[in-house]
Amino acid sequence: MEKNEALKEISRLRTEIDRHNYLYYVLDSPEVPDAEYDRLMRRLEELEAAYPELVTPDSPTQRVGAKPMAAFGTIRHTLPMISLQNAKTKDALDFDVSVKKMVGLVADESVEYVGEPKMDGLAVELIYEDGILVKGATRGDGEVGEDVTQNLKTVRSIPLRLTKDAPRLLEARGEVFLPLDAFRKLNREREERGEPLFINPRNAAAGSLKQLDPKVTASRPLDIFFYGAGVIEGAAPFTHLETLELLKKSGLKVNPFVKLLHGIDAAIEYHDKMEAMRDSLDYELDGVVLKVNSLEFQKRLGARTRNPRWAIAYKFAPKQEMTRVKRIEVGVGRTGALTPVAILEPVFVGGVTIERATLHNLDEVERKDVRPGDTVIVQRAGDVIPEVLSVIMDSRPPGAEPFRMPSSCPQCGSAVDRVGAIHYCTGGLLCPAQLKESIRHFASKRAMDIEGLGDKHIEQFIEAGLLKDVADIYSNVTPENLKSLAKWKDKSISNLLASIERSKRPALERLIYALGIKGVGEHMARLLAKRFGSIEKLMEMDEQGLLAIHEIGPETARSIVDFFDERRNIAVLEKLRASGVVFAAEKGTSEGVLSGKVFLFTGGLSSFTRDEAKDLVESLGGEAASAVSKKVDYVVAGEEAGSKYDKAKKLGLTIIDEDEFKKMVGR
Ligand code: IVH
Repeated sequence: MEKNEALKEISRLRTEIDRHNYLYYVLDSPEVPDAEYDRLMRRLEELEAAYPELVTPDSPTQRVGAKPMAAFGTIRHTLPMISLQNAKTKDALDFDVSVKKMVGLVADESVEYVGEPKMDGLAVELIYEDGILVKGATRGDGEVGEDVTQNLKTVRSIPLRLTKDAPRLLEARGEVFLPLDAFRKLNREREERGEPLFINPRNAAAGSLKQLDPKVTASRPLDIFFYGAGVIEGAAPFTHLETLELLKKSGLKVNPFVKLLHGIDAAIEYHDKMEAMRDSLDYELDGVVLKVNSLEFQKRLGARTRNPRWAIAYKFAPKQEMTRVKRIEVGVGRTGALTPVAILEPVFVGGVTIERATLHNLDEVERKDVRPGDTVIVQRAGDVIPEVLSVIMDSRPPGAEPFRMPSSCPQCGSAVDRVGAIHYCTGGLLCPAQLKESIRHFASKRAMDIEGLGDKHIEQFIEAGLLKDVADIYSNVTPENLKSLAKWKDKSISNLLASIERSKRPALERLIYALGIKGVGEHMARLLAKRFGSIEKLMEMDEQGLLAIHEIGPETARSIVDFFDERRNIAVLEKLRASGVVFAAEKGTSEGVLSGKVFLFTGGLSSFTRDEAKDLVESLGGEAASAVSKKVDYVVAGEEAGSKYDKAKKLGLTIIDEDEFKKMVGR
């Protein structure tokens, strides 16, 4: 091919790939399958290999590939990157009063604010000249930051080239963060390799961005939301919201929960609403930022030495606190794993009072050296259970004894075995703790969903000898048996029996999940249900067959095979079937309740992530679309639904909300 022709094709490919990157990473709504994207990339790489002189720094092939550096250079910010004053509700009210006073509004007039989620990551500035990313820096001390251009280039949601709507010069500012899923995965991998764990997603993001080898950064799925700008040339927004619009129009990712707020009451309401949903997001928020919308007002308000007077960081309740360990107990989980648990002086963390925090396993207790009597820092992160982060050694009382793992199960006295970092009770279902946990799991909302079969009842039934395995729920929880127990009245008996009856026709994925096979969580259960279509087919599969499935690793494959090799488990399955539990075939591809229906999601959902919702639709025979078209039967509009919503409305599609969707899928 001639150079001229190659250049033309290269430029066409780059535009095409940039567009797909934008659709995938910024808008979260890809148009083409991954294979097509890979094909375009390969072709571009081929042509650039043939004509190395045609490679430009903004080519999509140039995200990774830069060589490790000896040290970072520095970059002076044209405008300093100052930080925000932290505020609680009272301070937010004071802030509003002083803003009004300084801009000359009277008490009953309201200030227009922009509310933004306050990401817990690290601030960066990206400089785009003529739409091309030329430099990227950390905030540093606010005046001078580190030159992390090569590393920032590996972040997929940072475009190397902006759209044609971008201004001539744009110093875009935003927060780089690591999504919670990625954070947990990274720590799991580090644990397996025996490397120190990151304390929180922010440290992980900072650690990832400040790698001298960009390849390491590239291996961490960092993400970004842009929230402001330094110098802009070639556009002149009047309000902060217009600045954000300009960023969006230029192809940069802005948080979808940004909201224009009229007055401080609306701002407080916004703060509370975001706090209530913080655990449902896939990233950490530590508060919201309130910014005066008018840039004219911002200018008039100006800044103090370190903080602007036109914005505050209105924080959520902290998720880390200090407290004292009263003692260390050992809990026994569903799989028999022994977990050391710190029993704490009650402490208020991230909006709830906690009295227990997990210490994971013996290695962790030893690594952190946690002892009864110690003062510790505890943390609640995302939706995970509270954990002890570290010990304040200076406060250790004299004579504090190190923790020892018991050699027999504290619940049933059976021997304790150690596999890797984990200690196990060898008692199986003879151990009341394992039995209780496996029944609790089986009956839980996301498994068989037996409403009303709570902890207390399970304990009572086990004690009375009614439940020896999960199948006994269907054969031994009878009116006669219940009547003989304390506190069971006709009404509560009929309620419980009705919900047991209702649970007899579970979707296959829920049944698989309910069985409590080690390593088979909800996602894996869905995958297995989809793939095998029936319990029988799954039971027949050998390790090799399971391993052939992407996402199933050797440990999970082994544990699935072990589960079905165990005679007692097969007996339980047979007992379940004999007592009327229907082992339905996966509705999946042909005859699910959503079969033939196409769904499109827009905006944030509160009970599912986007992927979970899509998987759910598919597992029920439906199809999840990524673009609005006449083909779509239902548009599910979540919080802050965006442009897809408007488009759907224009096309006259059926739009439903999350509650309606949940009803359709029986959640
Ligand atoms: S605005 C002068 N907006 O919080 C305005 N900051 O203490 C400066 N942050 O350094 C920042 N989300 O790392 C702003 N939506 C948001 C933010 C945000 C997170 C971080 C950022 C900044 C720190 C301020």
